[in-house]
Amino acid sequence: MNTWIQIAYLISTALFIFSLKWMNTPQTARRGVFAGVAAMLVAVIGTLINPEILASNYKWIAIAVVIGTAIGVPLSWVPLTAVPQRTALSHAFGGLAAGLVGVAEFYLSFSSSGHELGHFRAAALCAEVLLGFLTFTGSLMAAGKLQEIIPTRPITYKGQNIINLGLLSIAVIGCVALSIDTNYKFIFPVIIFLALLFGVLLIIPIGGADMPTVISMLNAYAGLSAVAMGFVMDNKLLITAGALDGSSGLILSIIMCKAMNRSFTNVLFGAFGQVQAASTDTVKKTVKSATPEDAAQIMEQANKVVIVPGYGMAVAQAQHRVRELYDQLTSRGITVKFAIHPVAGRMPGHMNVLLAEADIPYTDLVEMDDINPEMPQVDVVLVIGANDVVNPAARTNKGSPIYGMPIINADKAKSCLAIKRSMNPGFAGIENELYYADKTLMVFGDAKAVVGDIVKYLSGEGGGH
Ligand code: TAP
Repeated sequence: MNTWIQIAYLISTALFIFSLKWMNTPQTARRGVFAGVAAMLVAVIGTLINPEILASNYKWIAIAVVIGTAIGVPLSWVPLTAVPQRTALSHAFGGLAAGLVGVAEFYLSFSSSGHELGHFRAAALCAEVLLGFLTFTGSLMAAGKLQEIIPTRPITYKGQNIINLGLLSIAVIGCVALSIDTNYKFIFPVIIFLALLFGVLLIIPIGGADMPTVISMLNAYAGLSAVAMGFVMDNKLLITAGALDGSSGLILSIIMCKAMNRSFTNVLFGAFGQVQAASTDTVKKTVKSATPEDAAQIMEQANKVVIVPGYGMAVAQAQHRVRELYDQLTSRGITVKFAIHPVAGRMPGHMNVLLAEADIPYTDLVEMDDINPEMPQVDVVLVIGANDVVNPAARTNKGSPIYGMPIINADKAKSCLAIKRSMNPGFAGIENELYYADKTLMVFGDAKAVVGDIVKYLSGEGGGH
């Protein structure tokens, strides 16, 4: 039986690796998801056939599966814009599971049915519990901030970093003491308490804008917790799957930090996302607006159009109308490309997923670094519900909180059309000079309605032809 379990774990590990590899490109991403699901299924079956599970315990496992399914299935129904907080909740459950397994292993080790803890296993168990419980509360806080159940602004106070690091240090010292001698049993609940508290304190100084990066870091912590659990339970699959989870979370955080020109420490301690003081600029700026019909006529005259989608396109669910617009323009021989900013929207790959849903060819999705050199040759850049990712302040205004963040140079195109509902700022809470520029025309309204009207005009239904 043991051989079968090891074979199942080997297959599962291989599938997890392929899953990550396939998720690298939109063409194979769906296959990657199926491989991940299959890997998890094989892992669960491999675990269930373990003879160490007593027959009487299957009843409890079945109850847990029913409860897990009852929570998991509705979680999958959330809209795409709420996926970051949904992911945070999944990490919270993962962290809680690891923490609870650690608690059970710890107390069982003192009973006749448990395995005695040596120094190494005790250290691994402490790491598992510490990381597991801090991921639990940290992820709950992150989900709460993103869902705006708790205030999204950073909550800071004097000596915050010292207090946080102090608490973490006490917990680590407790772990060291327990690893040396597990008879200091009373330390264990203290470590759990400090881990739960640290998770909350870690997140409160971080602004809503940095939450996706933080969630991805919490993903890394949950993965490391699973690795530690693998050492405690001598389970190789947990070690490899946890390591994959941990490293992919870390890599994703690094990619996001790069795309926002931020350092890790800046994300964790920078209190970014604070509400900015209102602009002191008293010069009255003018905005030029246009109708969807005007926008259609301008685009019809163009040879090359670049569409920059952002969070607003996701909120409006305008991707299918955007596809119709793409069809209308390309059928007139106009070159249409989509400029994809790595942090447009609210999660990595947000725009890619939406545009793929509308069957827009991947080949017309161009990464920021590749499209920027072409911008001066672009006749019309159409910004749909994007704001921060096209804000020139990131290049020019040293005082701006997004200064240094790479942007799509929409301001360098020959002309700009921008669809949004008002002059309200984007996620970073700052004004965008692009919208006041001479070459820019604002088309106010909901992205789905406006793009729909442009399409109607182009297709002749709007009475324009
Ligand atoms: P934002 O800067 O958030 O701007 C979105 C704009 O869409 C808003 O200005 C809003 O203006 C408009 N909008 C909202 N609903 C709309 C609707 N129904 N129809 C039309 N327009 C609508 O978005 P972005 O340019 O995509 O930038 C993303 C931001 O999120 C960046 O600051 C980025 O750093 C941050 N962030 C993203 C990630 C990831 S991984 N994607 C991670 C961390 C942080 P109105 O209200 O006037 O309509």
